[in-house]
Amino acid sequence: MEADAPVELLVYPDDCDAYGHLNQAGFLRLFERARWSLLARGPGMDLFERHGVWPAVRKATVEFLRQVFPGDVLRFELEVAGWGDTSFTLRQRARKVGDDGLVAESEMVFVTIGRDGRPMPVPADVARFFGVRASRSAGATRQYTLRGLTVTADVTGDGPVLLLVHGFPLDRSMWRRVSSGLTGWRRIAPDLRGLGLSEAPASGYAMAEYADDLVALLDSVRVESVVLCGFSMGGYVAFELLRRHPERVRALVLVNTRATPDDAAGREKRNATIARIRRDGPGFLAEDMLPRLLAPASLATMPDVVRETRAMMGVHTATGLVGALEAMRDRQSAVPLLPTITVPTLVVHGSDDQLIPLAEARAMAGAIPGAQFAVIPGAGHLAPLEQPVNSGRVIREFLDALG
Ligand code: MLT
Repeated sequence: MEADAPVELLVYPDDCDAYGHLNQAGFLRLFERARWSLLARGPGMDLFERHGVWPAVRKATVEFLRQVFPGDVLRFELEVAGWGDTSFTLRQRARKVGDDGLVAESEMVFVTIGRDGRPMPVPADVARFFGVRASRSAGATRQYTLRGLTVTADVTGDGPVLLLVHGFPLDRSMWRRVSSGLTGWRRIAPDLRGLGLSEAPASGYAMAEYADDLVALLDSVRVESVVLCGFSMGGYVAFELLRRHPERVRALVLVNTRATPDDAAGREKRNATIARIRRDGPGFLAEDMLPRLLAPASLATMPDVVRETRAMMGVHTATGLVGALEAMRDRQSAVPLLPTITVPTLVVHGSDDQLIPLAEARAMAGAIPGAQFAVIPGAGHLAPLEQPVNSGRVIREFLDALG
């Protein structure tokens, strides 16, 4: 049997609790069995033993989304979410066969340890096996060496390329919910240098550097031009990319972003945040920013989004965060660029964005010849996370019309 064929497993009564629902232990067992089944079909269940290492789980999160009962058949998908010298992260999804509904999602960090319990390098065979899977699967997290730096990107689907650029202090995973509805496009969502899983150099943070990294990424995947979609700080990067490399952009999507630069008060605030990160570390950022990033209603009623955003904010190094703050502080105005934009453009904005007023986004759209403007009702600054369905729908309609 092919290693790539999806693993399907039947839920037995002994996987379930007294009320017939698949219980936590049952879920973990099935996720684990799906992983071993995949190995059995590929390089063999003894792959790790052959190399004298064992994949020890260091961290596991499981999100339960729907009930499951004895007799249900679940289909398991697996993708690589991260790769290191002695560790790797696997993401698994379980869907109900029949209606294809997502019932649970797990993310597990494994450390390869030797017999003495010490971390050992991940064997090349293991990397090869998952690498092969990653390149054949619907989506994968990949690493690229660009301009001397290791840059991580999620690459999903086939078709014309949509390059998704995240905001601050977020990473590529902010696009996952929206991206899943944009089939028919090859979605490339990188972590900007210094953020997420991309390398954080000691210096070299500016909008021009981020933009040139993205162009190096396009060169490395041999893509000439893309639909460029930037969220907030990602929008600032998108303006810079358009300024420096207009021939690489065939259409533009600007999500909850602005063309104006920081004013004096804004620059002062960036400097204060930089000083605090240097003094106290970045731990305060999430609590400081969340109430302004999310609409009050989202903050009160969307615990998953709050949790996910907080987790996203917690992965960065102080160096990368400071670099991004300096780059935003020093960015040029994109206002003079707006009337010169000739590619099809969509501006998307949350109705309740507390960081960038809706009126400013409307004016920005008005200054770009022929730009479309879409408001996402009920969304704050993080429209793609708070309202992924609506945000995805307007982007999808724009993409569909590009042909
Ligand atoms: C973002 O969401 O990317 C940033 O908060 C934007 C900014 O601070 O200007």
